[in-house]
Amino acid sequence: MSDSPIDTAAVERLLNDFADPETGRGLKQMDQVVDVSINDEQLDVTIGLTSYSAPLWEETRQSLTEQLQSKLPGKAQVRVQVVEHERPAQPIGGIGLTVKSVIAVGSGKGGVGKSTIAASLALGLKRAGAKVGLMDADVYGPSIPHLLGVDEKPTATAEKRLQPVESDGLKLMSMGFLVDPKEAVIWRGPMLHGVITQFLRDTDWGDLDYLIIDMPPGTGDISLTLSQLLPLTGAVVVCTPQDVALLDAVKAVAMFRKVNIPLLGIVENMSYFLCPDNGKRYEIFGSGGARRKAEELEVPFLGEVPIQIAIRERGDAGETAGNFADQESAPYFDRICYSLVKNIASSKAADPPMPSLSVL
Ligand SMILES: Nc1ncnc2c1ncn2[C@@H]1O[C@H](COP(=O)(O)OP(=O)(O)OP(=O)(O)O)[C@@H](O)[C@H]1O
Ligand SMILES: [Mg+2]
Repeated sequence: MSDSPIDTAAVERLLNDFADPETGRGLKQMDQVVDVSINDEQLDVTIGLTSYSAPLWEETRQSLTEQLQSKLPGKAQVRVQVVEHERPAQPIGGIGLTVKSVIAVGSGKGGVGKSTIAASLALGLKRAGAKVGLMDADVYGPSIPHLLGVDEKPTATAEKRLQPVESDGLKLMSMGFLVDPKEAVIWRGPMLHGVITQFLRDTDWGDLDYLIIDMPPGTGDISLTLSQLLPLTGAVVVCTPQDVALLDAVKAVAMFRKVNIPLLGIVENMSYFLCPDNGKRYEIFGSGGARRKAEELEVPFLGEVPIQIAIRERGDAGETAGNFADQESAPYFDRICYSLVKNIASSKAADPPMPSLSVL
């Protein structure tokens, strides 16, 4: 051991300085260094990362490998392995919800693809390995059950708590599970507040990394309700590149800012249509407007999704999950999930939270 050219103290220092993507704090300090073994010029490091950071595991592994490889004097051969580090969520907002990030997906305008993007974010994060819930806050026009092809009823426990519907590892709650879609329900403001509160407070969501909330168009009332109930990590605004949609997106951004919900990013949906017949790109609603608007508003741009007939067909058939299996669609959705998680991680790294002292 002692005649190994690898400096153990330097390895320790590097592992201490390397940030856990979930907390922004050093891996060693967060007890996420599982094993370090040095054998002559070979350095093997095993680190633990949480399911919350699942979309960033491979990138983190590569980045740590490069850091160790380049910063250690001499010619160390570095191998980094990642295993899961258990870190359950803490209760937030005093309503018994245990979740690490709550993300609302909204827009000022109807029909721009909020529900498609919300469902895709939930599916993408879950596919990467995170624990995800998806709550449909569109009480008037719930579309999550339809987009995901789920037709079940949530059950109630003896304590009158709702069990979310589980589909492919996603936990779901929607008004669509509770009322007949053909039935006209007349909602008054306070009832809306009550339903959203029940969905958040009286549902057994369990331990979640992410709760994605699909917002109704307009979003004023619901945003206010949400902001009063729990601290949201932030909102994602979906819009199309068309001028009127962008105007509504500007309003949505202003509205989220008014209720102190941070803006996590803008997604441009229906960016352009690639004609399958001739490969030509048709900019039906214009193009690139949302990216420019995001810059102007100082909100991150998370990515774009073109108009694809298959996306609409899958939505209608309840097969939104299929967007991730199709190489024509998957990269767009993957990129948006990745940008979202990466941006949250970068802001944590810039401003790591204070450690919580359990003795207090
Ligand atoms: N990129 C896309 N390409 C093709 N069709 C799409 C795309 N995005 C969404 N759609 C389709 O557009 C329709 C509206 O989408 P979605 O329900 O997600 O919008 P919304 O903003 O949630 O609507 P609402 O305001 O009614 O809640 C759906 O039929 C969906 O399948
Ligand atoms: Mg919708």
